[in-house]
Amino acid sequence: MAIKKSLLALACLVTFAGNSCRVSEPPPETLKDAYKDHFLIGVAIGRFQLSGRDSMGLMLLEKQFNSITADNMMKWERIHPNPGIYNFEPADQFVEFGEKHDMDMVGHCLVWHNQTPAWVFQDESGNPTVRDTLLQRMHDHIFTVVGRYRGKVHAWDVVNEAIGDDGQMRRTPWSEIIGDDYVQKAIEYAREADPGAILILNDYSLPNPEKRDGMVRLVKDLQSRGVKVDAIGMQGHYQLYYPSTDHLEAAIRAFAELGCRVVITEMDINVLPNPTGRVDADVARQEEFQSRYNPYTAGLPDSVQLQLAEQYGRLFTVFVRNADKIDRVTFWGIHDGSSWKNNFPVRGRTNYPLLYDRQYQPKLAFDYVMKAAAGSD
Ligand code: GLA
Repeated sequence: MAIKKSLLALACLVTFAGNSCRVSEPPPETLKDAYKDHFLIGVAIGRFQLSGRDSMGLMLLEKQFNSITADNMMKWERIHPNPGIYNFEPADQFVEFGEKHDMDMVGHCLVWHNQTPAWVFQDESGNPTVRDTLLQRMHDHIFTVVGRYRGKVHAWDVVNEAIGDDGQMRRTPWSEIIGDDYVQKAIEYAREADPGAILILNDYSLPNPEKRDGMVRLVKDLQSRGVKVDAIGMQGHYQLYYPSTDHLEAAIRAFAELGCRVVITEMDINVLPNPTGRVDADVARQEEFQSRYNPYTAGLPDSVQLQLAEQYGRLFTVFVRNADKIDRVTFWGIHDGSSWKNNFPVRGRTNYPLLYDRQYQPKLAFDYVMKAAAGSD
């Protein structure tokens, strides 16, 4: 029986092209293999995977992905909670894991207005600190964190979410205290701390023309000052109906025209009602829970499963078509049960944004993403 099966398999692999016999490759079974000629396939991981408590997730991680992003453990509040006090242990584990599995590693993120402790922006009396002090803190933070993982972490999200939804520079304590050149300084410090690392500006809603243009202005301004941005990170927190193919593709092209690489970071697709219609990923925003916003607690209907799969297929078709500009697509989580989308922008919902379900089984969306790798659009 076993012999018969392997003969059959062999017969399937051998096809005749004209007079010559050609052995064709078996179709890829994993995301990273399917996309090996296009871009890296990444995923955000956290303490559950690193501590070994999510062994099923770990298995998928090792099999399917070739790049990892630190989900929370490198954010300022976690790695540098108090002045002069660093908590490197979880980030060290992340880097050890990446080295052991020979994976591309992304550090997330050095400078952001969220998940940064209040002391960073304050003087001893709790008033806003001054430019020089904040620059010094930023410098020390970047040198300490990037320096520790120099040559190991391949890419850094240097500034997260610098652009506001209106396309202007976002008003944050960083920009208020230092000025808008805080972005320039952050990139310069990171470059000095690890000249070999890929430095990224990461943001959400970049397919929106105002935001796309804001990012283009920022990068051009930096370039005119001799500051190179290696890549633009497009956070892929998308919806069933967002973004449009045209807007997505226009943004990818606009960033590539600047001479930047594009990375699709934080990919997931919301399937639940969106009470305000807003498509941002501003983690500070929360909306009130109502059960009508949580319709799929007993499972995702087939029709929505199909919509999700089609949306994933459509987006990955765009990525494949632009693979010469894209270095990596990273999912924000391994399976639906662990996604932040269960709690944003409404807490306590049952969402289905990723390629694997709560039982770690691949969803229809997985098949559509695998199919899109062949580039048949
Ligand atoms: C933003 C951040 C991420 C993460 C997500 C939500 O997109 O960049 O680090 O916090 O929100 O999980």
